[in-house]
Amino acid sequence: PYPYFHQLRKEDPIYWNERWNGWVFTRYHDISKILIDNRFTAERIRPSKNMPEQMVLDMASTYEILSKWMVFNDPPNHTRIRMLVNKAFTPKAVEEMRPFMHEITDYLLHHVQSKGKMDVISDYAFLLPILVISKMLGLPDEDRDLLKQWSDDLLLLVFGAVKETNRHERAKNGLQQMVYYLEDVIQARHKNPQNDLITALVTAKEKGDVLSMGEVISTCTLLIFGGHETTTNLIANGLYSLLKNPAQLEKLRANPSLIHSAIEELIRYEGPSKAIMRIAKEDVEIADKEIKKGQRVLLMQNIANRDPEVFEYPDKLDITRQSNHHLGFGKGIHYCLGAPLARLESTIAINQVLKHLKNIQLERTDLEWQPNIISRALKQLPVIFD
Ligand code: HEM
Repeated sequence: PYPYFHQLRKEDPIYWNERWNGWVFTRYHDISKILIDNRFTAERIRPSKNMPEQMVLDMASTYEILSKWMVFNDPPNHTRIRMLVNKAFTPKAVEEMRPFMHEITDYLLHHVQSKGKMDVISDYAFLLPILVISKMLGLPDEDRDLLKQWSDDLLLLVFGAVKETNRHERAKNGLQQMVYYLEDVIQARHKNPQNDLITALVTAKEKGDVLSMGEVISTCTLLIFGGHETTTNLIANGLYSLLKNPAQLEKLRANPSLIHSAIEELIRYEGPSKAIMRIAKEDVEIADKEIKKGQRVLLMQNIANRDPEVFEYPDKLDITRQSNHHLGFGKGIHYCLGAPLARLESTIAINQVLKHLKNIQLERTDLEWQPNIISRALKQLPVIFD
C-alpha cells in the first residue's frame, strides 16, 4: 500500500505539505529521533487557527478535558500523570483479564460458527476491546454501546474527520456525556472502593501525590478511547494480512508459539496507527530542512515500518521476523501505555480464530479502507469458513 508515501520516503523524506500546512516525515531514523527529541512538543490540543470565535468558546470545555490526556502533555506533567496511572494500569491488571478475553472470544465465535461467515469487524474485533476496557475500569457490560457511541463521536475530532458535518458539536456532546457518566461512577468508587481500575486510579499515590478528580476523569476517557478502536483494527488488519498470506497463516497454525513474533510483525506490516503528530518548540534543522518554531510535523509510522534501511524485505510479511523494532506503538516517553493489553487481546483473538474456524478465507478481496490519515482501518472484513 501507500505507493505515494514510499516514493516520498525515497525522494523527499522530509516534505512540506502546503495543504496540511506542516512537515511530513517518512524515514524510520528521522521519525525515531523526533519521538525522543524534546525540542518537539506533544501539547497539540488547541483550536485550529481558522476556527470561528464562537466555536472556540463552545469547544473550550472539550479542549480542557483533552488537554489533561497524558498523550497531549510534556514533562513534568506527563511524567507525573503517567507515573500515577502506571500504579493502577499494571501488568497484573492486564493479565487478570486473560480468562475474560477467552470467555468473550469463545462466546462470539460460537455465535457465528454455525453461520459459516462473519464480518470480522462488527461481529468480532469490535466487541472484545470495549468489553475488556469496560470490565477493567469496572463499568457494566450493558453500557458498552453508549461508551462506544461517545467514543466514536470524539474520534471525529481527535482524528480529524474533516468531512463530517457537525463533528465539533458531536465530539463535544459525546465527551461531555462520557464525563457526566464517569463522574457518577468515580464518586461512587470514592465512597465504596471496588477491585477495579477506576478505584485504583482514584487511590493511586506516588510520594504523597494523587490524581485530581479532573485527571481521573480525563484518564478514563483516554483509556476508553485509546483502548478500543486501535485494538479492533489490530485484530482485523492482522487477520486480513494473514488471510492474504496463507503460507504465513499455515505456519502460525502449525506452530502457535510464533504468535508473539507474529503479533509484532502484524503491527509492523499493517499497524492501526498510521501517524503521530508533534509541534516544534523552537527552530530545528534536520537534514537540510529548517523546521520553524510552531510548525507541525506528521510522523508516518506505517511508512517508517516499511523502511528498507531498517527492515529486510519490508513488504514481505514474515511472522518469524526477529529484532522487530517497529514504531507501531510509538517510541520514547509516550510509548503506548496500553501495548501489553493490546498485545494480549490480539494474541487471544487471533489464536481463537485459528483454533475455532476451520478453512477461514476472505469472502471478497475488494475491501475498502476508511479515508483517514491517522488510523488504518478497514470498513468491513467479511470472511467465510467451514
Ligand atoms: C499512546 C498506539 C492500544 C492507551 C499511544 C501511541 C501510539 C499508540 C502510537 C503514542 C502516541 C504519541 O506518541 O503521541 C496504539 C495502538 C494500539 C493501542 C496501535 C492497539 C493496537 C492501546 C490500548 C490502550 C492505549 C489498549 C489502553 C487501554 C494509550 C495511552 C497512551 C497511548 C494512555 C498515551 C501514553 C503517554 O502519553 O504516555 N498508543 N495504542 N493504547 N496509548 Fe495506545
